[in-house]
Amino acid sequence: MKVQFLGHAAFLITEGPYALLFDPFLTGNPLAAKKADEVKPTHILVSHGHSDHLGDAVEIAKNSSSKVYTFYELAEMFEKEGIEVIAGNLGGRLPADFGSVKIFQALHGSGVVGGHACGFVVGLHDKKIYFAGDTALFVDMSLLESEEIDLALLPIGDFYTMGIEDAAKAVEMIKPKNVIPMHYNTFPTIKKDPMEFKKLVEANTQAKVIVLEPGETVEI
Ligand code: NI
Ligand code: MN
Repeated sequence: MKVQFLGHAAFLITEGPYALLFDPFLTGNPLAAKKADEVKPTHILVSHGHSDHLGDAVEIAKNSSSKVYTFYELAEMFEKEGIEVIAGNLGGRLPADFGSVKIFQALHGSGVVGGHACGFVVGLHDKKIYFAGDTALFVDMSLLESEEIDLALLPIGDFYTMGIEDAAKAVEMIKPKNVIPMHYNTFPTIKKDPMEFKKLVEANTQAKVIVLEPGETVEI
């Protein structure tokens, strides 16, 4: 699969006919590698309602007729625009033509009254991805070890989410093969050096840390 970092927490992951877009905050994102009208995903996954994650999801879903995966309280916003939504809740595995989507807990505000922030465990072809969304460190991440994660996308920016040290502890629990750090350097409050994270993780675990510039793609 090809993994393209679009800046902040936005990723485009493609495999065969499928293009999965995660947390597409492009308009107003100073690090955005693409404009909203340049992305044509088959599916969009939205972890929570904060504007730096929900981003351009409604517009992109309408323009590309993509299916949206999110948590229950955010569904209505898409449904009233005529967008097809699969909205589950924490712990639920949702059907997906590309494999599977499991909604994993995140320790963070939802941005929507009554809702939850979440992460996703995505099965795509023969690969397993954990997209953490915005979250603090929590010990239940150790449950992900049995998922045999090929790629973990983890926030390291601190202030709103885990910082470098906590994200490194998350890697120790999850034991993924590869890790890409996200949610840093977009704003002055989350200025961090991803190479510091890479050094710390690779000194303490078997995981490979891949640092991507916005716009860069890696094959996994
Ligand atoms: Ni947030
Ligand atoms: Mn955020």
